[in-house]
Amino acid sequence: MQFRDPLLETSGNIIGFYEREFFVFSNFSSFQLEWRGRLWQTSEHAYQASHFFETAPELVEKIYNAKSAHDAYKLAKENIDKAPKNWENIKVDIMEEIIRCKLEQNPYIKHKLLQTGHKLIIEDSPYDDFWGWGENRDGRNELGKIWMKIRKELTSKTILITGGAGFIGTNFIYYMLKKYPDYKIVNLDKLTYAGNLKNLELLKNNPNYTFIKGDICDEEIVKTAMTGCDWVVHFAAESHVDRSIMDPDTFIRTNILGTNVLLRIANELGIKRFHHISTDEVFGELGPIGKFTENTTYDPRSPYSSSKAASDHLVRAYFHTFGLPITISNCSNNYGPYQFPEKLIPLFATNLIEGKKVPLYGDGLNIRDWIHVDDHSNAVDTILHNGKIGETYCVGGDSEKTNLEITNLVLEYFEKGEEMIEKVPDRRGHDRRYAIDFSKIKNELGWEPKIKFEDGIKQTLQWYKDNESWWREIKSGDYQKYYEDQYINRKN
Ligand SMILES: NC(=O)c1ccc[n+]([C@@H]2O[C@H](COP(=O)([O-])OP(=O)(O)OC[C@H]3O[C@@H](n4cnc5c(N)ncnc54)[C@H](O)[C@@H]3O)[C@@H](O)[C@H]2O)c1
Repeated sequence: MQFRDPLLETSGNIIGFYEREFFVFSNFSSFQLEWRGRLWQTSEHAYQASHFFETAPELVEKIYNAKSAHDAYKLAKENIDKAPKNWENIKVDIMEEIIRCKLEQNPYIKHKLLQTGHKLIIEDSPYDDFWGWGENRDGRNELGKIWMKIRKELTSKTILITGGAGFIGTNFIYYMLKKYPDYKIVNLDKLTYAGNLKNLELLKNNPNYTFIKGDICDEEIVKTAMTGCDWVVHFAAESHVDRSIMDPDTFIRTNILGTNVLLRIANELGIKRFHHISTDEVFGELGPIGKFTENTTYDPRSPYSSSKAASDHLVRAYFHTFGLPITISNCSNNYGPYQFPEKLIPLFATNLIEGKKVPLYGDGLNIRDWIHVDDHSNAVDTILHNGKIGETYCVGGDSEKTNLEITNLVLEYFEKGEEMIEKVPDRRGHDRRYAIDFSKIKNELGWEPKIKFEDGIKQTLQWYKDNESWWREIKSGDYQKYYEDQYINRKN
């Protein structure tokens, strides 16, 4: 069977032609190589000599001392009848061993291999049917296969997502698995009232996705989940301000103590990146003008935002004190699919579908900066791949709206009038205005929100319209039963 990887070409004679479009990758056989206890002049010497390791030691010496790689090649070709019978079966493994050695010993080669996500052209074996494409370009291309296999291994990541069964975590998991099909995701979630395994049902047959039910405060389970991971993206939190007013303790436990457990174990296991998902609420509230930046002083005002602020400080402390490679993003209000119907947009949409009124706090003039959850995922992806270790990035949607404006948009979408608004007493300590200045991530990493609020909100409202069974189960409390049926009482 032919091997045709769309990302790969092996043929010396087409390099010039493809150079602009593709990446030319030299096989770098001219570097010295330490391999199997000897220092070889080039990897070509090593590979050619390996033909005779078992059968002709004198030839190994001759090849070892050959003046050039070409001479080494010629010597092996002339004596090929002295190679062992099983040579054909082992030569690919030997070549792979040599290539892995080259990569380990020469960071430049590794850098070159990883430098591009483009097509790879191996500058070698232009007419060799086995290692390259051969004259008719239908060769086995074994060399190319080895390089591609190693590049895949080196670029692929295993990421521990905490709180992946919640609103933003769910959307982030879908986003990442779609964009990086080789990445593996481990989702650690306690499945509080806000976590919903149904969100991730579409991934149940995806071999790159694993779910672990567990609490981030539980060291043992955290260790199990984090072992083997390259990165951690930490979403898990108690996230609803109103609940934090009713029950602050749970917020302190999960958001502060849980984050500390994750940080400590990440440090122990040598995690290569710990990205902490935070909120703009840590900055307190704004007057009618101005925006939050990375330099704004922390001034949290609810138990929720205070616990998030404490977790941000802990994350930075692990960077400064222990050198844990961290990044933080402080994001504004998210909207999109899979948001628990206790938050403004899904609550109002689902209430209207159910024929109920929408409860609007106070005068409805509190302002939030709204961002589509996919833009948030894209920002986190950008920070993970290009962000600077130790840095914080503010992420915003450039869409300031009062709660009343949002309410009117939702009413309009569902063709309902203002009589469906029910004014309720304001939330205690309700912050008046939040807005984010995202110039840092824009200027340094080239990220900005792409989804216009006017488009995103319509898609989102339509999603709640199309996915009634999803939110009706949550609202009626059936979700817990679903979980037990699915994971505890299931017979097969
Ligand atoms: N929603 C927003 O607008 C917004 C904006 C900025 C930042 N954030 C932050 O983003 C993160 C995710 O927010 P969300 O809106 O998706 O929250 P969410 O409430 O929808 O989801 C939280 C998830 O964390 C899980 N969880 C809670 N406690 C846990 C524990 N002890 N151990 C393991 N898992 C636990 C829950 O089961 C749930 O799946 C939070 O850290 C939040 O502070 C949210």
